[in-house]
Amino acid sequence: MPRADLVVYNIGELVTFKGGPTARPRPGEAGILRGAAVAIRGSRVVEVGPSSLLRSRYTALEWLDAEGRLATPGLVDMHTHPLFAGSREDEFEAKLSGVSYGEILARGGGIYRTIKATRAASREELLGLLLERLYRMLWGGTTIVEAKTGYALKPRVEVEHLRIISEAARLTPQLVVPTLLAHVPPREGDREAYIEEFRGAIRAAARQGLARYFDVFCDRGAFTPVESRILLEEAWRAGLRLRMHADQLEYLGCSRLAAELRLDSVDHLEVMPPENARVLAEAGSTAGLLPTSIMAMMQAERPPIKAIREAGVPIALGSDYNPNNMTPLVQTALQVAPYILGLTPLEALAAATVNAAASLGLAGIAGRVVPGFRADLVVWDAENYRWLGYEWGYNMALHVVAAGRPALVDGRPVLRPPQR
Ligand code: NIG
Ligand code: FE
Repeated sequence: MPRADLVVYNIGELVTFKGGPTARPRPGEAGILRGAAVAIRGSRVVEVGPSSLLRSRYTALEWLDAEGRLATPGLVDMHTHPLFAGSREDEFEAKLSGVSYGEILARGGGIYRTIKATRAASREELLGLLLERLYRMLWGGTTIVEAKTGYALKPRVEVEHLRIISEAARLTPQLVVPTLLAHVPPREGDREAYIEEFRGAIRAAARQGLARYFDVFCDRGAFTPVESRILLEEAWRAGLRLRMHADQLEYLGCSRLAAELRLDSVDHLEVMPPENARVLAEAGSTAGLLPTSIMAMMQAERPPIKAIREAGVPIALGSDYNPNNMTPLVQTALQVAPYILGLTPLEALAAATVNAAASLGLAGIAGRVVPGFRADLVVWDAENYRWLGYEWGYNMALHVVAAGRPALVDGRPVLRPPQR
């Protein structure tokens, strides 16, 4: 009899996304199985098949009964800023009285304020905050999470922050994808000198294997397309993969630049001209959409979804967790995406799993429930995928399996050392 470490059985509906990343998720092509089970050995899936068959076939150390519920790949949060100290609840109130995010930033609030608070915190405090946030995400179904720096400002300290991220990554069962982010230039002083210094940090981060991605906030109040290009080209030469914050506040041509440089992921896009969807499709980029950021920004604009769909650009979803948008769960982004962006429930689910994995360069190892892939699974308090977004407003993840180990069972955290 084949052995497994864990078998999740009696799954009413299992969405596997067997076919891989997709710009047009359709029920007939999503690899949806009924009455299924998933056998896991170590941190990998070994077999997916009918529940009755796998139950008689395997001897397993642990069995998890899904009791006829929905199971999906673990959620992948492809855009977060979780390493910061302090809070900005008064800015939340100010935004509601009509002050814009851009105005707050230009006055030295927003990101600049979080930079101050983050610099004042100790390394231990930052690590503690980051771990708390990663675990909260895990219990909400996030089994893979991209984590950006960006609140150190001093390029050398941004590299130190990458070290804190890699330390945290060793203490959670999640796969954490570290990103060095050029967030905003200093308010005073020589911008050119800052860019030069940041190029040094990019090389150092790459040399020490501390970052997988480089990201730049290309927008009004942040970096210009000319500056962004210099930094992105440096990162590319250093061997980092590339992503971008583009076209969030004002259109400066950032998504065009992103397409020209064939970035893996181009995120936000609230003010992208619809005709740019075609160039993103040709570049093979993913559109990273962040519905809870739109809410937190109290923004009227929406990414040009129709053009993005028609051009065949795969959509990914992220939480964009940051002190302006205190939504740690990509599950929340998945739940509100139909309302804020008009995504279908299946589009939203693909965007928060298989497509998000692709946007992080992980299309070949994660984001689907197939043999050989990372064993990341969520069993939902739901019967079928249409319930995701139909019902919402609470944590609907009932069981979470991360890298082959139960992390949440019956809605309760399981605390076990992560498996490597
Ligand atoms: O993705 N747009 C830039 N960066 C973040 C906001 C960060 C902050 O306000 O602290 C974002 O929305
Ligand atoms: Fe962001």
